[in-house]
Amino acid sequence: MITITFDRVTRSFGGKPLFDSLDAKIRGGKITAVTGPNGSGKSTFLRLAGHLLRPDSGQVSVKCDDAELRRADYRDRLGIVTPELRFYPRLTAYENMTFFLGLRGKTLTTDTYRDLLKRVGLDETAVRGKFAGAFSTGMRQRLKFAVLLASGADVWLLDEPAANLDAAGRAMILREARQAAASGAVVLWATNDAGEEEKADEVIRLGGNPARRS
Ligand SMILES: Nc1ncnc2c1ncn2[C@@H]1O[C@H](COP(=O)(O)OP(=O)(O)OP(=O)(O)O)[C@@H](O)[C@H]1O
Ligand SMILES: [Mg+2]
Repeated sequence: MITITFDRVTRSFGGKPLFDSLDAKIRGGKITAVTGPNGSGKSTFLRLAGHLLRPDSGQVSVKCDDAELRRADYRDRLGIVTPELRFYPRLTAYENMTFFLGLRGKTLTTDTYRDLLKRVGLDETAVRGKFAGAFSTGMRQRLKFAVLLASGADVWLLDEPAANLDAAGRAMILREARQAAASGAVVLWATNDAGEEEKADEVIRLGGNPARRS
């Protein structure tokens, strides 16, 4: 099981400190919510956790059963859903999925593709032959989850994953996040929504006194 530890992490932008000596622990097997107002550093926290951004000082260490995880192994296990992730607008859902999974050295069978679409609540006949650029925002968000599920990642960095989703979509991601956590995955979920925070097992509050509930 993976554990991500923030040890006295300090990070500034343009000389303005965002995190000052922040400690935090994120454990596999749980859904951890990262909360705080706009600009409090939720997205930055996720990027630090994913080793996509370095701290100015301090450390973000990633261990699997007490052994430090190698950089390449960590990258293979990371799955990221953020608003910045974009699909190619002139490719279909299948083509986009094949492309993004191909980057990870994975192939996608049509059977798996169909199963995944069903799992994320996309209607296969409705998206057939349709470019991702013609999808609604919620449909694209669901497709991001299909890629995440297909990737087999067991460290999920979800940046406001429920944005633009309807009630069924929100229920879908919560169900999938629960299932992933139950199988030991790290699920780090940045949110501003009190209801989503309520459903998490642990909460890291930013912008104020970072606190953890356990
Ligand atoms: N690459 C960057 N360059 C400069 N400033 C940055 C950068 N990334 C983040 N910041 C600053 O750090 C602060 C926190 O940003 P961040 O995006 O992490 O907040 P957030 O909690 O995710 O906000 P939101 O709720 O709006 O998504 C902001 O003031 C932002 O301008
Ligand atoms: Mg953000």
